[in-house]
Amino acid sequence: MYFPISGKGINMDIKELINEAIEARKFSYCPYSGFAVGAALLSKDGKVFKGCNIENASFGPTNCAERTAFFKAISEGVMEFDAIAVVGAKAGDIIDGFAYPCGVCRQVMEEFCEPKSFKVIVAKSVDEYREYNLVDLLPCGFGPKDLE
Ligand code: THU
Repeated sequence: MYFPISGKGINMDIKELINEAIEARKFSYCPYSGFAVGAALLSKDGKVFKGCNIENASFGPTNCAERTAFFKAISEGVMEFDAIAVVGAKAGDIIDGFAYPCGVCRQVMEEFCEPKSFKVIVAKSVDEYREYNLVDLLPCGFGPKDLE
């Protein structure tokens, strides 16, 4: 399946995006939880920003993979997104479950993405994945429009 990308003519296969998330997961720094997460964020202009979770001995500063990807993109001036793929499991090569974005990451998505069209893909592999719209994962979300 291809993402329809806002009329800019760039198509990216879901499987490719999942593969990027699997690659990102290899850099996970997770000595405390032992849970390794990778994310790949697709911008509307067809760029992919990869992120992994980055933990900290003080726990609180830990950053999720999804937010790492978002903050990389936004800090480079990219603000419009179509989809994110997420893979997470106990550190190691086997990804045996679906890792859903935490509430904080969903809220960050709400800030920068259109809830009804932004796709969230949680995957075990390129063949086994589930696809949602952000609104499915964060119904009745509070976002920038509420402060207009
Ligand atoms: N984690 C993520 O990277 N993304 C999520 O949405 C859920 C949790 C990370 C944070 C922490 O490093 C580890 O998974 C266990 O919570």
